[in-house]
Amino acid sequence: MTLPPGPRGPLALNAAGWILRPGPYSRKLRKHYGDTFSLNVERHAPWVVISHPDDVKTVFTGDPNVLHAGEGNQILKPLLGARSVLLLDGPEHMAERKALLPPFHGERMQAYGELIRDIAEAEVATWPTNQPIATRPRMQALTLEIIMRAVFGTRDERLRSLLAQLLDWMGDPAADARRAGGRADDLEARAADALAGRRAAQRGDRAAPYVYPDPFAFEPERFLEKPAGTYTWIPFGGGVRRCLGASFALFEMKTVLRAVTQGIDNLEPAHRTEKPQRRGVTLVPAADGRIIAARRAAPARRAQPVPSGR
Ligand code: HEM
Repeated sequence: MTLPPGPRGPLALNAAGWILRPGPYSRKLRKHYGDTFSLNVERHAPWVVISHPDDVKTVFTGDPNVLHAGEGNQILKPLLGARSVLLLDGPEHMAERKALLPPFHGERMQAYGELIRDIAEAEVATWPTNQPIATRPRMQALTLEIIMRAVFGTRDERLRSLLAQLLDWMGDPAADARRAGGRADDLEARAADALAGRRAAQRGDRAAPYVYPDPFAFEPERFLEKPAGTYTWIPFGGGVRRCLGASFALFEMKTVLRAVTQGIDNLEPAHRTEKPQRRGVTLVPAADGRIIAARRAAPARRAQPVPSGR
């Protein structure tokens, strides 16, 4: 099979770019090779990276018996075990997915509203004022508490510690590098060499504006003018693999954000911008999303649960 063109450089160099410079590296490759390119970042098989919404649609609507996402997720096997829904394919995957669905139904989820709100309000009550607060670790701890109590229905400390270790492992850049087949410090040094001096060329680079005129600008209001689309806003994946926890996660995020805005009167970012940084399979703000809370809000009436869904 002929693969689309892509960088020929050594695997370690590609992996370093992908892990250490996630945004600029993929923008650079897209500028050079177009919407679709191949990338050698791990030993098992080359990746083909796509970005055009038509291609995203083709993948999400493709035959799941041919497109094996479970096989593609093998990297998660040591963490989740071979029987995880994320690792299964075909009829086995569909059966497991069906079995997992009931707890995520709307009505069942609404029942978690009060619990999530209580946990979030208790967290916000601990935030200091007038000094930087690193929101990422705090939100991670909050999510863990919510998963423990809403999903597992327990406060067992052993489970908390296991889940915390799991999250740390998934978010550990060194583990990411090991998975890619190199050592983090080697990769860092080689990446710094390779990427120094190329920044100017990357400046002003933008993803092709298929859907929004300036896709990398932080303009959340764009979703008011043009609602998020199935194949253009894909944080939860799509097709038969779409995240089963998507409604729960959105509901949780809205409930937590509401508790934050009700608990704090004046929130400012501590830095003007924070670069995106890879943490395991996710991207996070490089300085942990630091904010400064000017003052606490006067005790207000308690928030009502927010509606679920997008
Ligand atoms: C902001 C939070 C979340 C994001 C961004 C997210 C994202 C994703 C993505 C992109 C996938 C697709 C993976 C693939 O294509 O192989 C996925 C799958 C999945 N997610 Fe989430 N997720 C989130 C929260 C949750 C939560 C809270 C739960 C459960 C409590 C959950 C349960 C699942 C399950 C079970 C799958 C596997 C679906 C399948 O393979 O059929 N997710 N998630």
